[in-house]
Amino acid sequence: MDILLPNRTAVVTGAGRGIGQGIALVLAREGADVAIGDINIANAEATAKQIRALGRKAIAIKSDVGTRDGADMLIAQSLKTFGKIDILVNNAGVVGAQGWQERPVPNDDDWQAVLRVNLMSRIYCSEAVMPHMKKRKSGRIINIASIGGIIGGALIPHYTASKAADINYTQSLAAIMAPYNVTVNAILPGLTFTEMLKGIYQQRTLQNRERSEMTPEEILKASEMRTPMGRAQTPEDLGNAVAFLCSDYAKNITALSLDVDGGMRTH
Ligand SMILES: NC(=O)c1ccc[n+]([C@@H]2O[C@H](COP(=O)([O-])OP(=O)(O)OC[C@H]3O[C@@H](n4cnc5c(N)ncnc54)[C@H](O)[C@@H]3O)[C@@H](O)[C@H]2O)c1
Repeated sequence: MDILLPNRTAVVTGAGRGIGQGIALVLAREGADVAIGDINIANAEATAKQIRALGRKAIAIKSDVGTRDGADMLIAQSLKTFGKIDILVNNAGVVGAQGWQERPVPNDDDWQAVLRVNLMSRIYCSEAVMPHMKKRKSGRIINIASIGGIIGGALIPHYTASKAADINYTQSLAAIMAPYNVTVNAILPGLTFTEMLKGIYQQRTLQNRERSEMTPEEILKASEMRTPMGRAQTPEDLGNAVAFLCSDYAKNITALSLDVDGGMRTH
C-alpha cells in the first residue's frame, strides 16, 4: 500500500507520550518527518528516537505551547530544521493545574490551566504557522479536541468547556484559512487509556462516581463495555484519523469535528 504523506513535515505538540506520541508515530509511518514539541524533553526525545528508527527525520523541542513565546519558538525551530511545515497537530492538553487529580472540584487554577493549554496553545501555534502556510497556499491544521467538547458533564466541566472552545475555534480557523488552501479540522477522541485518563479515573474515584474499590483498569473495562465497538481507542487509532485528514484524500474536508470514539458519543 502506498504511504499517505510522502515528503511531508509535521509538528505535533504534546507528542512525548499518549495520543500525541501515537499521532507522531503514525505520521512518520506514513512518510512524514516530525518535530516533537513537549514540556517534557526526555519523553519528546524518546518519541523522536522511535521516529528515527522508522527511517524518518525527527527533532525534539522543549516547549510550553501554552505561552506565545513557547509556540513561536517551536514553530521557528521546526522551520529552521526542516525548511517547511505541511502539518500542525495541536494535541497538547491538560485536565487542570498541578495536582488536579486530587481535587474533586476544579479550582481557579484548574480553569486557567485548561484554557491556557487546551485553547490558547491552539491559537498560539496556529497563529505562528499561519503566515508560512498562507505564503505556500498549502497546509493542514488538526486540533485534538474531545467528545467532551460536545457533551458536558458534572465531572470535569472546565475541561469540557475548553474542548468546546477548541471545536468552535477550529470552525472559525477553517473559514479564515480556506482561501489559502489550508484545511483545519478537529478530532474528538473518546476513551483512550493514557496517563490523562488514569488521572480522570483517579479523580472520579474521589468523587464517588464509580465504586471506589475498582482500579482504573477495571473502570476502563466497564466503560469499554458501554462503547458500541466494545473497546477504547488506541493512540494509533487517533493517528490514523489524523493521517487521513492530512492526506490528499481529504483535501476538500475542512471545519469537520470527527469522533474517533467507537460510537460512544451517540450511544
Ligand atoms: N485520553 C483520552 O481519553 C482523551 C480523550 C479525549 C481527548 N483527549 C485529548 O487528547 C490530547 C492528548 O491527551 P493524552 O490522553 O495523550 O494526555 P497525556 O497527559 O497522556 O499527554 C499529554 C502530553 O502533553 C504534554 N503537555 C502538557 N502541557 C503541555 C504544554 N503546555 N506544552 C507542551 N506540551 C504539553 C505532556 O507533557 C504530555 O506529553 C489532549 O488534548 C486531550 O485533551 C484525550
